Amino acid sequence: MTSVEKYQYYKTVLAGQGYPHALLDMDLLDRNIQTNLDRAGKKPIRVATKSIRSPEILQYLLDADPRIKGIMCFHGKEALYLSAAGFEDILMGYPVVDKDVLKSIGLEIKKGRYICLMVDCPAHLNLIEEVAREVKAVYPVCVDIDLSLHMNFLHFGVWRSPITDRDKLYAFIQKLKDCPHVRVDGLMGYEAQVAGLGDEIKGYGLKNMVIRQLKARSVRLAQNRREEALTLLRSQFPNLRFVNGGGTGSVESTCQENAVSEITVGSGFYAPHLFDNFWNFELEPALLYSIQIVRIPAEGIYTCQGGGYVASGMTEPIKAPKVCLPEGARLDKNEGAGEVQTPVRYNGPEPLKIGDPVYLRHAKAGELCEHFNEILLIRNGKIAGKAATYRGLGLVF
Ligand SMILES: Cc1ncc(COP(=O)(O)O)c(C=O)c1O
Repeated sequence: MTSVEKYQYYKTVLAGQGYPHALLDMDLLDRNIQTNLDRAGKKPIRVATKSIRSPEILQYLLDADPRIKGIMCFHGKEALYLSAAGFEDILMGYPVVDKDVLKSIGLEIKKGRYICLMVDCPAHLNLIEEVAREVKAVYPVCVDIDLSLHMNFLHFGVWRSPITDRDKLYAFIQKLKDCPHVRVDGLMGYEAQVAGLGDEIKGYGLKNMVIRQLKARSVRLAQNRREEALTLLRSQFPNLRFVNGGGTGSVESTCQENAVSEITVGSGFYAPHLFDNFWNFELEPALLYSIQIVRIPAEGIYTCQGGGYVASGMTEPIKAPKVCLPEGARLDKNEGAGEVQTPVRYNGPEPLKIGDPVYLRHAKAGELCEHFNEILLIRNGKIAGKAATYRGLGLVF
C-alpha cells in the first residue's frame, strides 16, 4: 500500500469513530511479532508490560507463539492485577518497596502464583524479609546488575542498580545467603543504552557514529558482565532459573549471548517512532492515534484538536509525537503537539479539509495508552474489535 492509499485505508475503516482515537493495526502487529521472533533467534521473549498496557493485547502476544512467554511488570499492583487475571510467570522489572504491596504479593505467591521480585541492595532484602516473616512466604527474586558504561567524562547508560562490579555482586550474594525467605531465581542485566537509544537519529550527524561506537563497547561489556555475574551467582545458587537481558533495540546483540536465557521485548510490538532510529532493524508502525482537523488558519496549515502526547525521559524534540499520515505532514516547530490544538503543516497531494483525520505516532510504546480508554483493533480492512487499556480499566500505576 502506498502512503496515500494507507491514509485512505485508515480513514475509510475508521469513519464515524469520533476523535481522538488510538488504533492498532493488527496486520502490522503480526508482522512485528514475527520480526521480533526472527530477531531473537531461538531465545524466548518476555513481554515488557509497560510498553503494552492492555491485558487483552498482552494475552494476544502471549498466545501468538510459544516462544513469547512470561511478562515483565513495572508496578507491584500491576503484577497483582495481572496475576489475579490469570497471567503467569511474572517478573518485576523494577524493585517493589511498598510493604502492603509486598504483603499482597506474598499472599499471591502462597496461592501458587509466580511473581519474581527485582532486587539490587540490602534494603530491598530487608523489606522482603520483614514482610515474609509476617505472611510466611518465600519470595523468588531476580538480581539486577548494572550494565552502564561508566567513563570519566561520561556515564553511558541508566542509573538503576548499584551492583556495578564483581565485588559488589559478591557482597550482595553474602547478604542474599542470609535471607531465609528469599529464593534466588534470576539474574537480569538491562543494557538500556543499547536497547533504548537510537543510533540513526535524524539531525544527530556525527553524534550517531559516536553512539554506535559506545553501543558496540556496551555490547561487549554486557556480555562480559552477565557472564561473570552468572558464574558467580550460579556458584552460590545452583538452581538459578533464568538470565534476562535486553530490550527492543538490542535483540540482535543480546540473543548472541549464551548466558542470556530470555530477552525482554515490549516496544517492538507497537513500534513507536523512537524505534525508527536504529540502523539494524525495521519494524512496522502498528499503533497510531488520530486527531481531527478543526481549523485551516492558512494555506498548508491544518489545526487539529488535541494530540499533545509527549513521551517521558529527557525532554528533547524526538520525544514529541510524529505525524505519519498523510505522509509529508509535520508538526509546527513553534507549537509542537499542543494541549488542545495541534497545527500540522502539509503541502502534499491529499486534499485535506475540516473534519479529516491526521494520524500520529507516539515516541514511546505504552505511554499512549494512558491517553485512551480503548484501542481500536483493525484487521484486514475492518474494525476487528476494541481492547481496553489500563486506563480504560481504571488502572493507574
Ligand atoms: C528492565 C527493562 N528491560 C527491558 C526493557 C525494554 O523494553 P522495551 O522493549 O519496551 O523497550 C526495559 C525498558 O525500559 C526495561 O526497563
